Amino acid sequence: MRGLEDSCVDLFVTSPPYNLKNSSGNGMKDGRGGKWSRAALLKGYEGYGDAMPYDEYCEWQRECLTEMMRLLKEDGAIFYNHKWRVQNGLLQDRHEILDGFPVRQIIIWRRKGGINFNAGYFLPTYEVIYLIAKPKFKLAEKANRFGDVWEIKQEMNNPHPAPYPEELTDRIISSTNAKLIVDPFAGSGTAAVSAKRYGRNYIMIEKSPEYCGMIKKRLEGGIWNAEKRNRNKSA
Ligand SMILES: C[S@@+](CC[C@H](N)C(=O)[O-])C[C@H]1O[C@@H](n2cnc3c(N)ncnc32)[C@H](O)[C@@H]1O
Repeated sequence: MRGLEDSCVDLFVTSPPYNLKNSSGNGMKDGRGGKWSRAALLKGYEGYGDAMPYDEYCEWQRECLTEMMRLLKEDGAIFYNHKWRVQNGLLQDRHEILDGFPVRQIIIWRRKGGINFNAGYFLPTYEVIYLIAKPKFKLAEKANRFGDVWEIKQEMNNPHPAPYPEELTDRIISSTNAKLIVDPFAGSGTAAVSAKRYGRNYIMIEKSPEYCGMIKKRLEGGIWNAEKRNRNKSA
């Protein structure tokens, strides 16, 4: 992002790594899995462990958001997806990351099911999407009707361990008039797929060369889509 000039981006759509492997629950942390033995993120991401000390993680995310704010136009916005979770018995609601940024709304992304069986609290079934907006940001016409609770199933047919469902990025992008969309944690490039579908420009940034290859193939409609179709057929 540091290579881009000020005020050139209309919209960020992004889901950073959640730092899930730095956890007070054993399963994710030490890789044994426990009740999460089949969780896709058990090994972290390709080339990125997802286990920073919490203070360092928050500082990093604040730096990323500060850079996004620098790049945003005066009518731009950031849709920043994160997950609240219980650590050492207390809710971690991510205010350490968001304090001071212009959060305008919290959208609840209600997923199907969840993977936590702690007897101390109810099964978490949603993630949050922070709408962080510059003063002149407005939704596209009629987008207001979606409300602030979105029930969208998680994506199952994607080789990336933590992808967005296309329905989610479709909804975000079609709810704005953004011309240039950036995802600085692009993963498998779902934001680019939706940007392309709605005729918008996009820049995808991703640390892992393997996932970059995935994005390229996906956007070219290559092997991955064929694999996906075959998987769907045999399911
Ligand atoms: C939650 S995933 C994003 C998934 C994406 N929304 C999708 O639909 O596939 C977070 C991504 O951030 C990437 N990542 C981690 N550190 C990064 C960094 N410093 N710069 C860019 N990407 C990074 C990880 O490799 C991972 O693919």
